[in-house]
This record gives sequence, structure tokens and C-alpha cells, in this order.
Amino acid sequence: MKDETLLIHTGRDPEHHAGVVNLPVYRASTILYPSLAAYRKRHDDRYDGVTYGTRGTPTTYALAAAVAKLEGGHKSVVTATGLSAVAMALSAFVEAGDHILVADTVYGPTRDFCTGVLARFGVETTFYEPRLAGGIAGLLRERTRLVLTESPGSLTFEVQDVPAIAAAAHTGGALVLLDNTWATPLFFKPFEHGVDVSIQAGTKYIAGHSDLVIGIVTARNEELYRTLRDTTAAFGDICGPDECYLALRGLRTMAVRLRHQEQATLRVARWLQSCPEVRRVLYPALPDDPGYGLWKRDFKGASSLFGLVLRTRDEQAVARMVDGLKLFQIGSSWGGFESLISFADPRAIRTAAPWTESPFVLRLHVGLEDPDDLIADLAAGLKRLGGGPPPVPRQGPDA
Ligand SMILES: Cc1ncc(COP(=O)(O)O)c(C=O)c1O
Repeated sequence: MKDETLLIHTGRDPEHHAGVVNLPVYRASTILYPSLAAYRKRHDDRYDGVTYGTRGTPTTYALAAAVAKLEGGHKSVVTATGLSAVAMALSAFVEAGDHILVADTVYGPTRDFCTGVLARFGVETTFYEPRLAGGIAGLLRERTRLVLTESPGSLTFEVQDVPAIAAAAHTGGALVLLDNTWATPLFFKPFEHGVDVSIQAGTKYIAGHSDLVIGIVTARNEELYRTLRDTTAAFGDICGPDECYLALRGLRTMAVRLRHQEQATLRVARWLQSCPEVRRVLYPALPDDPGYGLWKRDFKGASSLFGLVLRTRDEQAVARMVDGLKLFQIGSSWGGFESLISFADPRAIRTAAPWTESPFVLRLHVGLEDPDDLIADLAAGLKRLGGGPPPVPRQGPDA
């Protein structure tokens, strides 16, 4: 079955729910049992059963099953946020004295979790140059338990050679984890490329409407799944059923949203490349991007988040440009229906792959607006880089 069809039919069960198209929201802390004997045996079902609210309800399991299928993995666990999905996946497979390899371009708070919490618990992290590919073999130690990848990387969008990394890691006895949020399960199939554990910040494209936070972690096999499940249960990490319901609803339209956003992003990115104010567009679906070859080889599409490097280093000029935008709104996160813009300084956080190209990167998320309107918004913004009066206060497109 094709993904587009799977998205519509997986994770719901009208026959057993009065014909209702969407699976209802099951809210629960307590689960009732018909007998003491059944109650005493409830832990036999602790991996996949409905035993207590902190372990999930049928709504949670429906989302987990849908994402596991789409990722092409064995089973998934649902967590409170994308960041907790990363934290759970990392915590599940390490103990004091272990060593892990983490791409230098991972999401900032992922990095902080490694240098903060994991370090405090005796796990050492080496950040590696994300384009090292099979070269990570040289960084593996006897106690290297896992290699964390994120492709493309946060802020600067370097594509990783995940199959080469997986081959090297597996030879050295290490697991491979991937933050697959940018590509979503539609555009990168982690388990076909050697990944053992795939992480989704469901907050982004899966939820798709900027109104909830949720994480999903998918394991290659039952053993990894049970380790993950034991870990999330031990931490008491779960997402509420209402969020799971909304994430399932978001999934239904993810393919059409992403295809529109991919096409719109390509138009906007190509147009930006033609602008004299632009030094570089960081988007692997552009043929002159250094990651294009790997992206073309391994990915089925490109999502709508990319980086923009301007020629100017004048932050006041950039503020004039950004503050006056009408459609690209200023804010964190991405994956919703609306276009967003944010500002970051990758130099401040990199250690293995220093970022020297510019003092800042603008991160753009293309939403579901018409790309011509987005281009007009950016064109007016780029004009403001050259000077002129400060923009009128932001009032939104209707104002
Ligand atoms: C690549 C990536 N992974 C994980 C996360 C964390 O997701 P959440 O915001 O749901 O914690 C983010 C959030 O921006 C992200 O960009």
C-alpha cells in the first residue's frame, strides 16, 4: 500500500466505534479489571496493553501504530514532546561509563541534553562533523553505544550519509539513532538505510497545525522497542490522548501538505538564489547544494524548512527586513500551515564543524500560502535591507 493511502486508513477503526470515522479520544488514568486475577496479571500486557494512563490508551496506541508503519519500523512509543523523544531514545541505550557520538549539527536542546543530563549521569559525548560518513569509524571506542544522526542538520542543513554511518557503527557494535523530523516518515525511510531507532518531533509536520507538542520514537525490532518502552515507563513520559488524537488527525493530510510545501519551497528557494542580496540558500533539494547528491540518493522528497545566508552582516538591516514581513511570521518551531522566519547564530554552538560562513542564518519555514505571495513578501523585505524608514509595526496580512 502506498503511503498516501496508508495515511488515510491506518490508526482508525470505524467498525468498532459506531461507524465513527476518527478514533475517539480515550482519556484515562485508571483502567478497570473484571476480577482480581485479571488485575494481578495486568503487567503481563505491559508493553502493548492498556494498563494505566501513563502507559497510553487506545488513542496513543493508534498513533504509535500508524507512525511505526509509515516509518517502516517495528513499533513506536509516544512521548510528551519531540525533545523528550530524543531524551528517551538516548537514555534507553546508555549507562554510566558509556560513550556516544552525536552529529555536531543536531537540534540545540538535544546537544544540551547530552552535555548536561547525560554527562551528569556519566555518559560522554563526542560531537562529530556531520559529513564524516563512514569516517565515524575512527571515533568509535569500545564503550561507544550509539551514534546519533540528524539529517539534514538543524540550522545549516548538512545531509548525512546515514547508510555509511550505519555500516561503520554496526561494525563497531553501536546503534544508530536518527532524528527524522525534517524528512518525516514520508520523505526518508530510516529502516531501509540502516537506522535502528527513529525519532519524530510530531509537533512539526505530523501534527501540522502549530497547536500541540508530541514525540514519537520507532524501533527496528522488539528488543529495542521493549528497552524504549521500559525507559519511557520508568520516566513516566507519555503524551495526553487529546494530543494523540490531533496528531492522528494531522497525519491524514500530511502527504498533501508536504507535497504543496515542497513545491512552494522549491519556488521560493530558487527565487531567493537569484537575488543579489542572498549569499546562499541552505536547502538540499537545490542541485548546487553540497548535500544534493545524498539527498537525491536517499530521500523521497524535501520538506519546507531551509536556511538563508544573506550577504549583509548588518543585524539592524536584517531586523528591518524581518520586522516588516507580512506573511513570514517570527517564531520558533515549524511544520505548521503557516510560514515562519527565525534567526540563529550557529557559530555559538558548533565544536566539530565550525560555522564560518556568516554571523547568522535566517531559518525559513514555508507554509501553505501561495508561493507568489511569499515571494512578494520576501522581495519587499530584501529591499528594506538597503535602508529606508523602519517598517510599520507588524499587523498581519489582513491589516
Ligand atoms: C530537529 C528537531 N528535533 C526535535 C525537536 C524538538 O521538538 P519539540 O519542540 O516537540 O520538543 C525540534 C524542535 O524544534 C527539532 O527542530
